[in-house]
Amino acid sequence: MKITMIGGGYVGLVSSACLAAFGATVTLVEKDPQRLDALQRGEIPIYEPGLDALLCEQRAVGRLVLCSSIAQGLKEAEAVFIAVGTPARRGSGHADLSYVYAVAREIAEAAPHNLLIVTKSTVPVGTGREVSRIVNSLRPDLHFSVASNPEFLREGQAIADFMNPDRVIIGLDQKSDDKGTRARELLTTLYHPLNHPETRLVFMGLESAELTKYAANAFLAMKVTFANEMADLCEATGADSDEVRHAIGLDPRIGPDFLIPGPGFGGSCFPKDTQALAVTARKAGAPSPLVETTIASNEARKRRMAERILTLLGDLTHPRTVAILGLTFKANTDDMRQAPSLTVLPLLYEAGLTLRVYDPHGMEQARALLPDGIYFARNALDAAQGTDLLVILTEWEEFLHITPSELQKSMKGRLIVDYRGLWKNREFASCGLVYHRIGKKDQTKKEGT
Ligand SMILES: NC(=O)c1ccc[n+]([C@@H]2O[C@H](COP(=O)([O-])OP(=O)(O)OC[C@H]3O[C@@H](n4cnc5c(N)ncnc54)[C@H](O)[C@@H]3O)[C@@H](O)[C@H]2O)c1
Repeated sequence: MKITMIGGGYVGLVSSACLAAFGATVTLVEKDPQRLDALQRGEIPIYEPGLDALLCEQRAVGRLVLCSSIAQGLKEAEAVFIAVGTPARRGSGHADLSYVYAVAREIAEAAPHNLLIVTKSTVPVGTGREVSRIVNSLRPDLHFSVASNPEFLREGQAIADFMNPDRVIIGLDQKSDDKGTRARELLTTLYHPLNHPETRLVFMGLESAELTKYAANAFLAMKVTFANEMADLCEATGADSDEVRHAIGLDPRIGPDFLIPGPGFGGSCFPKDTQALAVTARKAGAPSPLVETTIASNEARKRRMAERILTLLGDLTHPRTVAILGLTFKANTDDMRQAPSLTVLPLLYEAGLTLRVYDPHGMEQARALLPDGIYFARNALDAAQGTDLLVILTEWEEFLHITPSELQKSMKGRLIVDYRGLWKNREFASCGLVYHRIGKKDQTKKEGT
């Protein structure tokens, strides 16, 4: 089967490589010339474990080709996937659909024959129908159908997620003449390696598929936020958040995932998708106070992460230096979109602290987004050098190799603030270090205070 993927970002690259591995012949269209040149040279513009090898392999066997023009990409395609960005519109929280609609217009202008147009980007309810309206208005002669196939991959484990998904959601245009039959056939063929009892292809209406993606992300964002709030409550009451988390996660109605407390969710999906869902819900006359509170609680949490550090440092009339380990929104990605570091670091910097930071893969992206004057260290111990306090903001595995005695030798002060619980099993006290983490009662306070 021949398909075209439009957009060479996380989703477009991973989907292209994996669908090629499933046996499809994929043309990937990327309009950013620098990104395309890099891809042509075999350089992957994002950090995603395993992606470079898979793309290279699929290009070598000729199942994946790259180009810059939608017209060229569509020449022999039976289906075209729209995988461009849908960022939050500044100020309003609406999903910015300008890239999606621009692609719809280009497809209409260039499509040579009968075509299935599939939206893979995360788009609000009604977008598939609007894509259909745009194409139809520009090309009334063209036979085409639309479908929705939202993507659920997680950055950092995107290949595994795509290859072994819990489910593949496929929204069909049940109001069309063929009631979505052709789209169903084509997508069943495309996803044939996954069509076994453990991985269900879940067919539904267009609108349901579009909303499913937002509902899933909003639910997970709420779960993370709830876990964070419960961890704060544990701290305040002397309960142990590990014990509480483990115990509630044993209930199959709750489950253990997404209960680890942290500095607040970030990334390219949860923040913008919760905002877009809240806007959609209000517009539809069915507002979601739960989702709106989740957004507000998460934003406040990121600010509180900075305030905690300032409180721990105490007297700020003397110059203070803080090390930050981890800048990306989570480990195993170089994605800085909506990362907690983008809230925490500017607040610390404005408070007059000297900052020394390190991230295994996010330094380049972070440099462009953080205040000038922050020192970007060569490695974690270089970041720790001479600091009063050290913070773990992202749970990179490489930080597990750092020992308390190395920290004690590098740092000037004694305070370790671990916002990911990465070092929770370390013994810091014998090195004279004071370890703080979310969900544990403040170790500097005496019982009863
Ligand atoms: N990143 C994730 O983990 C993830 C997971 C699931 C779903 N999604 C959704 O998938 C969509 C894409 O996300 P992403 O992170 O891959 O976006 P991205 O911004 O990283 O990549 C989009 C790419 O599309 C290209 N592009 C834009 N317009 C184009 C055009 N007209 N022709 C060709 N290329 C064009 C851009 O240059 C860019 O390289 C979004 O809606 C997002 O919400 C993302």
